[in-house]
Amino acid sequence: MTQNVPKITLTDGNSIPQLGFGVWQVPNDQAQRAVTSAIDIGYRLIDTAQGYDNEAGVGEAIAAADVGREELFITSKLRNGAHQYDEARRAFDESLERLKLDYLDMFLIHWPVPEQDLYVDAWKALGALYKDGRIRSIGVSNFLPEHIERIGQATDMLPVVNQLELHPLYQQRDVRKFHAGHAISIECYSPLGSGAVLDNPTIAEIAKKHGKSVAQVILRWELDQGLIVIPKSTHENRIKENFDVFGFSLDAEDTAALDGLDDPENGKTGGHPATMNDLF
Ligand code: A2P
Repeated sequence: MTQNVPKITLTDGNSIPQLGFGVWQVPNDQAQRAVTSAIDIGYRLIDTAQGYDNEAGVGEAIAAADVGREELFITSKLRNGAHQYDEARRAFDESLERLKLDYLDMFLIHWPVPEQDLYVDAWKALGALYKDGRIRSIGVSNFLPEHIERIGQATDMLPVVNQLELHPLYQQRDVRKFHAGHAISIECYSPLGSGAVLDNPTIAEIAKKHGKSVAQVILRWELDQGLIVIPKSTHENRIKENFDVFGFSLDAEDTAALDGLDDPENGKTGGHPATMNDLF
């Protein structure tokens, strides 16, 4: 099944599987089992973060996996309280230790934390680690266009990925135009709206028509738009279901109906980058 997952070429020349496995809100003691299932099913992109407190469990699964390191694409993210340059480098080393790895495929600044105003420092630290070959691709998460412009001006280096909340109820159309203009790939977190989109009657109709689940229809719609997706589940049957999204296609009518669900005012389920200042 793995060979069915398309890859997206990033502006740094590296490629990333378009469908991966996210572990936000997976407790550390369940992370090993969930990631082991995901790798067995065929997922090769695994997305964790320092702030998820489950890197150790993810590392156990990677170490035990019957898959070579080069076949995997492992992402983690810098915690908000470690943006200061030296602190960011130290925090990165700690991530590698917990994950039992000697490089990461991708490392992201988790949130800009505007109140703290140290994300330029953090970006410089990621740049140095990239130049040292310890991170193959560097990017950001939850950055607004103004934050990306600022780090670009300060360092002449743009992120290759911005990981954002994106799903049918929160489609981020304007933000996507900015990213397309700078060739920054978008990776969708909460691609299923953290579960909030799964009871949508419009999508249920489309799912029924194709004999697929609502989750499968949503993921297909996101993949069709060139977005990278990292659905999360702790249930093996759902982890499998979310990977089985390559054997059907949506028609123009389905796509238009899904496009029409965008609700920029109320659709967001998680924190907002302009006001998220928690120092985890
Ligand atoms: P669970 O972990 O209990 O399976 P997102 O990836 O947007 O954050 O969504 C994750 C949420 O959606 C979790 O609550 C997860 O629950 C649930 N979920 C993930 N995949 C499926 C699926 N295929 N069918 C139903 N619920 C799912």
